[in-house]
Amino acid sequence: MSRRSGIALALGLVLVLAVVVAAAAQTTAPRLTGAPDPMADVPAPRIATPITDDVRRMRSFPEQPPIIPHSIDGYQVTLGTNRCLECHRRQFHDVARAPMISISHFVDRDGQMLADVAPRRYFCDACHVQQTDARPLVDNDFRDMLTLSPVGID
Ligand code: HEC
Ligand code: HEC
Repeated sequence: MSRRSGIALALGLVLVLAVVVAAAAQTTAPRLTGAPDPMADVPAPRIATPITDDVRRMRSFPEQPPIIPHSIDGYQVTLGTNRCLECHRRQFHDVARAPMISISHFVDRDGQMLADVAPRRYFCDACHVQQTDARPLVDNDFRDMLTLSPVGID
């Protein structure tokens, strides 16, 4: 084999390997980049629809921030205003029939219990999110820890 055809063969093998690796990656995880041709027009995927049925969901593990079961369209959380607190604050939650922010939300970083929400819990959507109808990006075989314990799930 000549040196040139040897190099061509090696390059060909590398190419085949790259295609196989790319195909394998494609089946396990979606592309994280845009269109293969960066300047091409591709239709944007549909934005997932939030689930807003007002049904509070079981938490997957005890410390999970519960997901938001209602619409939050246009709810502002800024330095000057916090729409979430208008219903979830201790003073308002009974009238709004909303669950009160839990006591952990009143504790500041020094462990002091404050009269109102602690600054580190002010930006609610840093932790609480809506559930959407989006399909999982990758397969998920999460099991509730109760199914692993002798106590059982029920
Ligand atoms: C108009 C009143 C109102 C506003 C504003 C509001 N909520 Fe709620 N929220 C409720 C009510 C009522 C519930 C009880 C379930 C239901 O009816 O949707 C609830 C439920 C929740 C829950 C579920 C709690 C649990 O234990 O499952 C979370 C989390 C939550 N809201 C977060 C938020 C966040 C974050 C915002 C701001 C982006 C917000 N809410 C704004 C009224 C409100
Ligand atoms: C740093 C993360 C974080 C932030 C920020 C945060 N929360 Fe939470 N929230 C949690 C966690 C974790 C829980 C569940 C454990 C607990 O109660 O502390 C929870 C619980 C809740 C609950 C359920 C209370 C109950 O008794 O069932 C409500 C309602 C809630 N949060 C509302 C809010 C609102 C409104 C804000 C914004 C003012 C907010 N949270 C900010 C993490 C957060």
